[in-house]
Amino acid sequence: MSKEKVQIFDTTLRDGEQVPGCKLDTEQKLIIAERLDELGVDVIEAGFPISSPGDFKSVADIARIVKHATVCGLTRAVKKDIEVAAEALKKARRPRIHTGIGTSDSHIQFKFNSNREAIIERAVEAVSYAKSFVEDVEFYAEDAGRTDNEYLARVCEAVIKAGATVLNIPDTTGYCLPEEYGAKMKYLKENVKGIDKAILSCHCHNDLGLATANSISGVINGARQIECTINGIGERAGNTSLEEVVMILRQHPYLNLDTDINSKLLYSTSQMVSQKMGMPVQPNKAIVGSNAFAHSSGIHQDGVIKKRETYEIIDPHEVGVDHSSIVLTARSGRAALAYRAKNVGYELTKVQLDKVYEIFLQFADRKKEVVDEDIHEIVEVAAINIQSIA
Ligand code: KIV
Ligand code: ZN
Repeated sequence: MSKEKVQIFDTTLRDGEQVPGCKLDTEQKLIIAERLDELGVDVIEAGFPISSPGDFKSVADIARIVKHATVCGLTRAVKKDIEVAAEALKKARRPRIHTGIGTSDSHIQFKFNSNREAIIERAVEAVSYAKSFVEDVEFYAEDAGRTDNEYLARVCEAVIKAGATVLNIPDTTGYCLPEEYGAKMKYLKENVKGIDKAILSCHCHNDLGLATANSISGVINGARQIECTINGIGERAGNTSLEEVVMILRQHPYLNLDTDINSKLLYSTSQMVSQKMGMPVQPNKAIVGSNAFAHSSGIHQDGVIKKRETYEIIDPHEVGVDHSSIVLTARSGRAALAYRAKNVGYELTKVQLDKVYEIFLQFADRKKEVVDEDIHEIVEVAAINIQSIA
């Protein structure tokens, strides 16, 4: 049975770039946009054109060079924003305007000093206006995570009638639990008239560490687009991480959902974005962190050396990582030491290994990690006659 496709909407260059200290210049954005296109994302949110002349130029330049993906520009539900975005996207092969407004009671009351009916009117006006420039119009209901479902359904119905092709349901504050977010998608799927004319999209923030889980729950319950960023960067605690959702769907084939992402480019793309933004990837980051395929405890190392799958659910090659690594620390066992010693030229007998292991533990208690040069020294200190295989 062929899998249903989940579209990947990458917002590294918009929501991701909002992170303090991560600002990119146009040239850097173009390099990243080209890479995202090669990676196979369906949509690149290139920026917020009205926000600055620099962002306008970046969106316009990206629109010109991207070959496959849809290029999208963010706007508020404001005519001028929409006009400027349309202008920036003029040269895109597949342009999309992303417009929207806050729909939670707190946004309606405190941000807009307005009321529910007036917000629906503004939403419809914005979508209709965007539709006069481009065919593909995505509507976001900001703070949908805290918006009452019945009202949210009315908003969605109204903007679909006005021509919205995608309905973005952002958990803007990262508040929802996965079941709650999934139930919201299911409710919209079942209660919005005309829902078959639009795609539901997940846009989850990570304030409680649930962005990825919420996005997966969203697609299990009927959404067919995930908005995400490379390395999960984004406002505050970040957005849904692209590499995580892609690999979750791939590792769970019975969900019958997949993306068009070339997963072999995930690691190098993560490194590229991290370097260009000056934003290090945390070592324990799923899929792309430096420890994601590193094993340091003796029990795990022994298992991985015997058969990789005992402690690894993903083949590192699948995400563009050369190999798993066996890290030597004071928690490592003889199997790991023998394996690493062999890699640097020493084939140790059992008796030799026992002696070397004793010295190794003394070294390892003093150091955080024992590296290849240390192994030579340890062997020398063990002062045994070891047959070199180098
Ligand atoms: O988090 C959010 O609500 C957003 C919207 C502007 C799409 O980023
Ligand atoms: Zn966001």
